[in-house]
Amino acid sequence: MTDSLFTPLSLRDTTIPNRIMMSPMCQYSAPEGFATDWHHVHLSSRAVGGAGVVMSEATAVSPTGRITPQDLGIWSDDHANALRDTVGFIRERGSVPGIQLAHAGRKASTRPPWDGGGPIAPDAGGWETLAPSANPYPHEDGDVPTQAMDHSDIDRVIEQFRLAAERARDIGFQVAEVHAAHGYLLHEFLSPVTNDRDDAYGGTFENRARLVREVTEAVRSVWPEEAPVFVRISASDWLPDRDSWTVEDSARLAPLLADAGADLIDVSSAGIHPDQQLPSTGPGYQVPYAERVGDATEIRVGAVGGITTPQQADQLIRNDRADLAIVGREHLRNPYFALEAAHELGVDIEWPKQYDRGRFR
Ligand code: FNR
Repeated sequence: MTDSLFTPLSLRDTTIPNRIMMSPMCQYSAPEGFATDWHHVHLSSRAVGGAGVVMSEATAVSPTGRITPQDLGIWSDDHANALRDTVGFIRERGSVPGIQLAHAGRKASTRPPWDGGGPIAPDAGGWETLAPSANPYPHEDGDVPTQAMDHSDIDRVIEQFRLAAERARDIGFQVAEVHAAHGYLLHEFLSPVTNDRDDAYGGTFENRARLVREVTEAVRSVWPEEAPVFVRISASDWLPDRDSWTVEDSARLAPLLADAGADLIDVSSAGIHPDQQLPSTGPGYQVPYAERVGDATEIRVGAVGGITTPQQADQLIRNDRADLAIVGREHLRNPYFALEAAHELGVDIEWPKQYDRGRFR
């Protein structure tokens, strides 16, 4: 039988009740990296709204790995504990809680978008960033100094991802997503645009892919056997005029990530450099890349970008273009996207009993 948007998805021994995931979305509202009431309400509402996976925003594995000083973090047990009740609530609602583990690399130390999003200099409350090579991200309004990572920095970051995953596991998260997209640290190692190293982590495709493989292995090594690991990648840098990361590189990477222990590739794109030229930002704009990556591997893929209607999400699954419909901004507009989608598609799903009288009849 053809799968559809409300067919559960089993990954290892974890069952996701439907094919809708709330995409990770930074809230820039975590003082010193700690989750607040905002995160509890934001994440829990999407579980009340029926999303199969509720994915946390990019959650920094170290203070240096934050995009902004207001990013969520999980670099200590106290940080994890601030998320514990939220994770429990999401599970109680029948959704699967996921955490996106992240390091911002050379795109760290910036202001939140509502403060203009530009760089913060180390002497103005920012910090020196880490990257494969010492070329800073070309912000319009100045640079943040960037240090090329040596081997001890690399080992430390791998260990930070591992420890972060352990903490997330211990408070009940059921999906760990490694953030290797959008021009942040792991993507910076993958892309020749940002990686001009000449050691085991640079140069050839295999070398550039080494860090994301090692991080995925480290996360998998502590993640429960029955629970899935996702990796979010940028399928392309969208810099066709220079040596850059392409969709075909992503297709080549997918089986390596599967070998490293990933169970699903979440296929996004772009973010490495401001000169990027995205071919489209229209409806389902990244779906073809999810399809290409899916064709290259046995593991599952998620599609994200411009998925805004139940019909679109449902067709994605029915036509076997992806296994998970990942919905970002539409979830900001409508936390109850999944409940409404079920109604529109004529599928009878359980509503929270407190909201049952609000059901469409
Ligand atoms: C994002 N996005 C994003 N992606 C990611 O991998 N980690 C993150 O923390 C964030 N943060 C974030 C914040 C906000 C406010 C937005 C709008 C977006 C990208 C997001 O997950 C998604 O990939 C894109 O928004 C495209 O999907 P939609 O919004 O078209 O469904």
